[in-house]
Amino acid sequence: MNTHRIAVSLLAALAGITAAGGATKAPPPAPNLAWQEECGSCHLAYPPRFLPAASWQRVMAGLGDHFGTDASIEPAVAKEITTWLAANARKPKAGKPEPVPPPLRITETRWFIGEHDEISAARFKSPAVGGAANCAACHRTADQGNYSERNIKLPPK
Ligand code: HEC
Ligand code: HEC
Repeated sequence: MNTHRIAVSLLAALAGITAAGGATKAPPPAPNLAWQEECGSCHLAYPPRFLPAASWQRVMAGLGDHFGTDASIEPAVAKEITTWLAANARKPKAGKPEPVPPPLRITETRWFIGEHDEISAARFKSPAVGGAANCAACHRTADQGNYSERNIKLPPK
């Protein structure tokens, strides 16, 4: 295969990924390597589109006490990640006030609670799921940033 053909099939593959993620959604941003590495070691690297910029800035400013653990990183790296997260964050909806202070957790946002209102607190807490923040327990392609409905499979009770 020559380089041109490789480029074309790569583009086709990328288009396929985007389509599988939902036709109405914008294509995912190119992943930032520092984010993948630093924010994907304890849990999956939560995609920027799930929190507004103000939330990401709050999360990144508090890494020294991050949900009870020390997740602090080098200031220069933190700055790079913060900029990337904020640039790709959820855009606030016009005319809809954002909660103050901005939530630190995706799982406490209105949209998350709305999307998951059929799942009981007990189900989220069950050992097979391990908490609402463990997206990949049900979203089987979460590690690829794909949360499409057709890739959801709840673990057995
Ligand atoms: C040393 C381990 C560790 C590292 C590194 C880490 N985290 Fe976390 N993070 C946690 C723990 C523990 C929780 C709480 C999980 C829970 O409640 O189930 C958490 C939760 C979160 C949540 C809230 C999830 C939710 O909606 O409930 C966000 C957002 C988050 N982390 C972002 C980040 C970002 C951004 C980075 C990279 C800068 C990062 N984390 C790096 C340990 C870590
Ligand atoms: C216990 C299983 C479970 C966990 C854990 C879970 N989800 Fe979900 N999620 C679901 C189910 C089921 C739906 C589909 C609801 C419906 O059909 O309307 C859903 C829907 C969604 C949707 C909307 C999908 C679409 O195409 O409409 C998004 C986005 C999403 N979840 C993100 C997350 C994120 C991010 C996390 C982790 C912070 C998470 N979920 C954790 C089960 C889960």
